[in-house]
Amino acid sequence: MSVFTAILLIFVISQLYWAWRGYSLAARRIQSRAWRMAVCTALLALYLLAYKFNLGSWRERETPVHLTLGEAVFAAPFLWWAASSLVAFLVVVLLSIPRAIAAALDRILTIRRAGAETPSPARRQFLGRTAALAAGAPFVAGAYGLLYGRLNLETTAPVIRLPRLPRPFEGFRICQLSDIHIGPFMPAEEIRKYVAIANAQKADLVVLTGDFVTFDPSTQHAVVDALRGLHAPFGVYGCLGNHDSWAGVEDSISELFRQSGVRILRGEKVAIATAGESLNLIGVDFQSPRRFGPSQPVRRLLGNIESAIDRDQVNILLSHNPDTFDRAAELGIDLSLAGHTHGGQAALEFISPEIAPSRLVTPYVAGWFSKGGGQLYVNRGIGTIFIPIRIGAPPEITVYNLSHG
Ligand SMILES: [Fe+2]
Repeated sequence: MSVFTAILLIFVISQLYWAWRGYSLAARRIQSRAWRMAVCTALLALYLLAYKFNLGSWRERETPVHLTLGEAVFAAPFLWWAASSLVAFLVVVLLSIPRAIAAALDRILTIRRAGAETPSPARRQFLGRTAALAAGAPFVAGAYGLLYGRLNLETTAPVIRLPRLPRPFEGFRICQLSDIHIGPFMPAEEIRKYVAIANAQKADLVVLTGDFVTFDPSTQHAVVDALRGLHAPFGVYGCLGNHDSWAGVEDSISELFRQSGVRILRGEKVAIATAGESLNLIGVDFQSPRRFGPSQPVRRLLGNIESAIDRDQVNILLSHNPDTFDRAAELGIDLSLAGHTHGGQAALEFISPEIAPSRLVTPYVAGWFSKGGGQLYVNRGIGTIFIPIRIGAPPEITVYNLSHG
């Protein structure tokens, strides 16, 4: 059974569980059977309509690049419900295990101590309320992530110390945007706001690290159009992400960017030069050592850019996938700039830095890393995929300050 099938199966079970809980609640609160059936039928119809909108034939149309009324009314609540109800169901299951053990122990002890007190009703009530609060928390967190968390942009400004940095580049600033994922929940108007924020940083160079679209190739024109306002004295450069590959737009979006004054580096290098010195900026398409969705594994990571690395210069690599970092450090690349993980998107790093789904597939989830003389920064991106929710992983624009050390 694949992971996807397992998640789908758990999701179906979770929906049956919540239907049962909903009906139980209605049975307690609505005395009239006719009214109860009417309310339940109306809710079920609404639920099925949301499914029809989100998963049915309506979804075969082009992905909207603006937030439409339909997306706001049907898609957003549905996606919030799908994510929150699944997590809440898992919480209920996890909580029920110790409760079941405690109840079994209670029964055993009661049998052994004939005439002993049965567990107090107050304790039962306390446990029941605690469980209800815990099961409700994912719904509250999901609403927070949808309405606030995914919009709460953080502009970070790490200082990157590069011992080999030429003097003219002291204080050189690079602004990075990543994982745009244009769609109804990252509409073109919102991307233009991020463009304005990025321009306001007045960086020397702007870099884009891929995932401009999600799955729909028809959205490529809109995302390029929204990003064409980016400008910087040393230019705007980028690389492509796995979603650009999956949508089959690698060639076409690169050409659209070229026409808009943005150069996508596809296994290429460019010299960023000033005052007789230069940095060697390199970009690669998405590369992964293992099969990642429809993307084929790349046996020799970064093999296509080995000859582009200049050991006499500071080399900066734009690679969507942070997993290329280990190889980049071996090859002597001074600084890798990546995206891809969305910082976990739904990460509970405020509880523990280890709790993020992305950590299951990469050790490089977000922020700064160093290894063997190389450095990596993983930008959390500004967009989302699948569920438009961010928890503990706010969207990010990064402005790097390069320093000699
Ligand atoms: Fe992405």
